Amino acid sequence: MRMYDLIRKKRDGERLAKEEIDWMIRSYTNGEIPDYQMSALMMAIYFRGMNEQETLNLTLAMADSGERLDLSAIHGIKVDKHSTGGVGDKTSLALVPLVASCGIPVAKMSGRGLGHTGGTIDKLESFSGFSTAIPVETFIKNVNTIGISIMGQTADLAPADKKLYALRDVTATVDNLSLIASSIMSKKLAAGADAIVLDVKTGSGAFMKSEEDAFALAEEMVTIGKNAGRQMHALITDMDQPLGYAIGNALEVKEAIATLNGSGPEDFTELVLALGSRMLIAGKKAEDVASAEKMLRQSIQNGDALRKLEAFVKAQGGTGEEVSHPEKLPAASMQIAVPSPQSGYISHIQCDEIGVCSLLLGGGRETKDSVIDLSVGLELKKKVGDYVEKGETLAVLHANDQEKAGQAEERFLRAYRFSETQPPKRPMIFGEI
Ligand code: URA
Repeated sequence: MRMYDLIRKKRDGERLAKEEIDWMIRSYTNGEIPDYQMSALMMAIYFRGMNEQETLNLTLAMADSGERLDLSAIHGIKVDKHSTGGVGDKTSLALVPLVASCGIPVAKMSGRGLGHTGGTIDKLESFSGFSTAIPVETFIKNVNTIGISIMGQTADLAPADKKLYALRDVTATVDNLSLIASSIMSKKLAAGADAIVLDVKTGSGAFMKSEEDAFALAEEMVTIGKNAGRQMHALITDMDQPLGYAIGNALEVKEAIATLNGSGPEDFTELVLALGSRMLIAGKKAEDVASAEKMLRQSIQNGDALRKLEAFVKAQGGTGEEVSHPEKLPAASMQIAVPSPQSGYISHIQCDEIGVCSLLLGGGRETKDSVIDLSVGLELKKKVGDYVEKGETLAVLHANDQEKAGQAEERFLRAYRFSETQPPKRPMIFGEI
């Protein structure tokens, strides 16, 4: 086979056969196809698209480019969850212990944050001593004994996607639905769960800004998963403003703990219950959303969910003390109130810009090698629809550096818009597939 022929075929709008896709992914992973030819093919796919069969074949080829995680030693239906990411998205921190406390075994691989969105692993490292760099054997053992474990993505999980995503990132070929869907799903399939619940975000802080694109991406991922024999559910949810009030690693952990205590923000709690109920249904612990939500609420009320979080943190090297004493989490030296420049209703928050503020404070990664400050971030006091008087606090910046705080404050104020009338409320859940 020649890569030249595959590029020409796709350029002319023809379909690629399974054997061609398998060969291309194998040869690219081995370094036998140069980046310039793969870039040309990605651009041809970007313009010509791929049909359902080609998308599935590409996903499977990438999932098989490394070691698939074998979860067969774990008893019960393994349910995974994936979010397309956003600002203040601390969902896994609350959701995973919550569903585990209801009897769903959760064996999850998570990533670190890059750019304006955070990563679950960074957030979890706010617990002193906690580590996700654990051997697969410990990961499996923990799921079988306490029902929950999270590890970092192994280097050998879908290596073709890693290489291809880096290439797409610098060749303006990321935002194609089939390429995004196959990239995400290749990692999910390789991670081995029986059922996958997707949280596809839409809005100014999301990858998919429009509702239409978010639905289309969700459809595409659900189709891939079903064609690969997995049970699939997807919720399309709001990311037009940060989720909850906390943005920044330790601050988000604190908010997740509050949520497992029953005192979390309304929007975040609604999302956690919505995703959790789909996970319980997928894991055959509940028949419908109403009974699943009841189980989840009970687990919060009777303390089981919080105890599960503590057991999880302890099993991965942490002391777990922060779960009952969140004041022991890393804290920044300065807390700076940002006053509102005017009176009125908050009509819009440019969500990705708030993520950038956290990045500027030191809470995110500019490059893969950046060292992040777990203690910094933002605590919003006003969100869309709230009324604010001029001079009233819009948010509190948690900072360790005055200059960085100044830059973040300037950027923060540019992200808020005001109006004289109250804007219509956006739903948290836009739909389900
Ligand atoms: N996230 C991924 O993992 N892959 C993409 O292509 C886009 C977002």
